[in-house]
Amino acid sequence: IMENAEGGNQTPIVELILVGFGNGPELQPLLFLLFLVIYLVAVAGNLLIVVLVVADRHLHTPMYYFVANLSSVEICYVSTTLPRLLASLVTGHRNISLQNCIVQFHFYVILSTAECQLLTAMCCDRYLAICHPLRYPALMNGRVCCHMVAWAWIIAILYSIMLEMLILQLTYCGPKEFDHFFCDFAPINPFCGNADILAMGTNYVSIILTIMNFLLSLASYTCIIISILRINSSTGRQKAFSTCSSHLIVVAVYNVCIIITYVVPEFNPPPLLYKTLSVLYGILVPLLNPVLYSLRNKEVNQALRTAIEKLAAFRHRHGV
Ligand SMILES: *[C@@H]1O[C@H](CO)[C@@H](O)[C@H](O)[C@H]1NC(C)=O
Repeated sequence: IMENAEGGNQTPIVELILVGFGNGPELQPLLFLLFLVIYLVAVAGNLLIVVLVVADRHLHTPMYYFVANLSSVEICYVSTTLPRLLASLVTGHRNISLQNCIVQFHFYVILSTAECQLLTAMCCDRYLAICHPLRYPALMNGRVCCHMVAWAWIIAILYSIMLEMLILQLTYCGPKEFDHFFCDFAPINPFCGNADILAMGTNYVSIILTIMNFLLSLASYTCIIISILRINSSTGRQKAFSTCSSHLIVVAVYNVCIIITYVVPEFNPPPLLYKTLSVLYGILVPLLNPVLYSLRNKEVNQALRTAIEKLAAFRHRHGV
């Protein structure tokens, strides 16, 4: 394959075909509608959370700063993959230039890495709040929270730059028909060429990051669950659990999907498998987040009610 790309007989590939979900014409309108609804709900829900956290003073705590930061990442995250998919479902155009594909991948990597780091930071935050409640206010304040958010972005950007440098040294020699619904090169890896050291480095970094995030989350939640089980009163237990159960669900789904996505490629999975997993953690998790945090959480519900009351009062006063 490598000789094909560099041999000169064949022109290098500059445009790909994103296969998406096949070309059964009767399925496309249905998929379009489904993904459109998911996209709108995910963006609206996450936007609502960001606005509530920014606007309501009661939610100015590290936990909700993390939640709002996560929500803003989710908005960008679904916006890198879904609009293009929606457009191609409507027009039937499935071509994308290699350059645009790499740009999409670049943003996807930054945002998904930042999301992972934020989820892990939230694990640590919940761990401190539940397992060390007395020291929590001293350990976790606005400044520490800010540092953790900043580090999430620094790690994400450095990692994506590393990947970008690697890709720029390689040639695209995979299939012209790229069997995915967006440009995620992780499960397919269509690049070839000589960049062994960089490739190895990137591989190590991604494995280390994945394992580190997984172990930190696992350790935090093990401690959290143990200390929740130790609480004597059942109301106290419920209260402690309610602050972290939504987060636990998201972390669990996310970690399982990530690990399967990166382990399974070794076994040459059928495309349907990694597409389904991508839909799960790339599209359903962003949708799940606001639902979990707003429906299951008293403080967010209260903030929402206050905001609606204020809005109603405003409209009443101004006769809008
Ligand atoms: C994200 O976190 C930072 C640092 O804690 C905070 O100041 C900021 O308000 C958060 N962003 C949002 C959208 O809430």
